Amino acid sequence: MSEIVKARLHVYPNGGAAARALARHVADAIRVKPDLVLGLPTGRTPVGFYHELSALAERGYFEFRGVTTFNLDEFLGIPPSHPSSYRRFMETHLFSRVGLPASQTNFLAGDVTDPEAECERYERAIARAGGIDVQILGIGTNGHIGFNEPGPILQARTHRVTMRPETRRSNAALFDGNLGAVPREALSMGMATILQARSIVLLATGQTKASCVARLLSGGITTELPASFLQLHSAVDIVVDAAAASAIPGAVSEH
Ligand code: F6R
Repeated sequence: MSEIVKARLHVYPNGGAAARALARHVADAIRVKPDLVLGLPTGRTPVGFYHELSALAERGYFEFRGVTTFNLDEFLGIPPSHPSSYRRFMETHLFSRVGLPASQTNFLAGDVTDPEAECERYERAIARAGGIDVQILGIGTNGHIGFNEPGPILQARTHRVTMRPETRRSNAALFDGNLGAVPREALSMGMATILQARSIVLLATGQTKASCVARLLSGGITTELPASFLQLHSAVDIVVDAAAASAIPGAVSEH
């Protein structure tokens, strides 16, 4: 009988410790493979991780210059130069600090006239880069990964998506708290795009993520909790702080 591979859970006492551990994990992966293809999320959660990763690069622990990145998603209807775009977020929190040239960073363009063609372009670009080696994910309070929102169906490939109200609310901070300014649609990698990464690390911190983290680890696989599909992948690490682990029966901080 084949071995059942479960997601590996890593519990840290707080968000800072989780961010440092993930930064060390990614930096070590880049030291082993300097031309690593890295999939990246935006949001509040990874800010500390990007800070720690930049600090490791600045201290000379590893070189970022050979890495290629692909971001998971982008708002539809705003240009890359918009101060609230995910591209700008990444430039602020990571790329400007590690000096990664724009030619090695990949984004879905939110201002295209043909979103479907843009999604197909992105899939081709990922394939041309040889696929994603390490995909970092956050998780929404509703269980989304990327902008694959819970619902009756999920999309396999990069696609256009209507964001749920709670997702728009949690992005309002990027638009100076103005919910009305948050786009209603986005472009996002699909479930198969994400699951084709060779390895996946999901980072979750804070009490608001606790229930989804517990369900993704031990519940069934359901389109109502897109993150539960990570159970289909054989190389998934879940990195959490104690608050995000608080609904997992028997979870103790091991670090
Ligand atoms: C954004 C993304 C989303 C976020 C999720 C959590 O690129 O992929 O799935 O990871 O919405 O966001 P935060 O970290 O703000 O709670």
